[in-house]
Amino acid sequence: MSIRVSTPTFPSTGPVQQAGLRLYRQRQHVHLPASIFAYVFSPAETGQSLVDNKAVFQEIRFLPRILRDVSKRTTAKKLLGHEWAAPFGINPMAVSALTAYRGDRVLAESAAAENIPMVMSGSSLMRIEEVVGAAPNSWFQAYLPPTTERIAALVQRAADAGFGTLVVTVDVAVRGSTEHYERAHFHSPLQPGLRLLWEGLSHPSWSLGTFGRTIATTGIPHFENSDSEKRIPVIARNVVREFSGRAHLAWDAVQRIREQWKGKLILKGILHPQDARMAKDIGMDGIILSNHGGRQLDGAISPMRVLPTVRSAVGDFPVMIDSGFRRGTDVIKALALGADFVLVGRPFNYAATIGGHAGVIKASQLLKKEIDSALGMLGVTAPDQLSPSHVTVAQDTFARFQD
Ligand code: FNR
Repeated sequence: MSIRVSTPTFPSTGPVQQAGLRLYRQRQHVHLPASIFAYVFSPAETGQSLVDNKAVFQEIRFLPRILRDVSKRTTAKKLLGHEWAAPFGINPMAVSALTAYRGDRVLAESAAAENIPMVMSGSSLMRIEEVVGAAPNSWFQAYLPPTTERIAALVQRAADAGFGTLVVTVDVAVRGSTEHYERAHFHSPLQPGLRLLWEGLSHPSWSLGTFGRTIATTGIPHFENSDSEKRIPVIARNVVREFSGRAHLAWDAVQRIREQWKGKLILKGILHPQDARMAKDIGMDGIILSNHGGRQLDGAISPMRVLPTVRSAVGDFPVMIDSGFRRGTDVIKALALGADFVLVGRPFNYAATIGGHAGVIKASQLLKKEIDSALGMLGVTAPDQLSPSHVTVAQDTFARFQD
């Protein structure tokens, strides 16, 4: 006789899916034109990485300890010489000012109020000088332009603006598949025409409250920070943004930035332990393990599956991680397995769209509260007390590497 054990599953809609950081996603879906929501949400190709980013957390279970006096807890965590209020921050996200009114600034100022780091995207529509002026602890993320001179000019501009931390995204040698959001008719820049007009008319709270309000106050937004010189409007016919041209870049490009940039320097988009080790050896201040939220190479492994091997490869060296983190318990699992810090993307985008400053602050507080209670239930009082002894992991969860 065999006994079949069925795994309980949660419904894909309903209270469970709309709680916690997911609170805002459904509302953003309704608020934004379909093409823009598709841009924010869409993974590459079949969505394998997106799905795995979530699935991996189900393979890691907690081993709580009891009766350990957890009455005095803190979620604070030191990273790169700063004590943050929580062990998470906000990922760089392109065109945040298209989904939320003055989105980059909203994210940066809310993060500052919460004392968590916020990384401003290089594909943003607000000038970096304004954002770092308003929130001086913000970090800047650069996509590298194709030539040495243009890279140097962009790095210099970020330094002159006053950023102390530069994140260079390195998982974009070539552009990932954009078919999902192109099928939803999202283009960057936006194409003027009847379709956009209809999307605007049928989403008045976005077209008046975000897009129209931006144009009324500061004019047509431009991609301000992809390069130190070129400015491309967010809405334009027959203008092609330069996404190619960096395929030839190699480690020497990053080494040159290291020589030029005096602040903290982070590489984002690493998945292989040998690349992690290389980043440490050439003098980076830290890395972000990431599969770009499943948006670049479809099938790229979830960074959680490489975390312990990366940790042993780099030893004592700042390792951050992103892609798929939605709950305090997800964050705790990463910290237990060796991450120093977690970054969260889409949920903060949804929160800024729907709730502005208050939304981002609420999202941050929700996540912090979840982390705080999970720490207590695990029998520890601070993130730094977490260790692999607090989790058990399914046999095949972690990647096996071949040289
Ligand atoms: C991104 N991401 C990203 N990464 C980056 O280095 N520069 C960028 O400009 C962007 N732009 C961007 C736009 C949008 C709408 C999203 C959703 C994501 C990737 C991002 O920084 C991060 O790696 C993932 O979003 C993390 O996954 P989750 O938390 O969204 O699942």
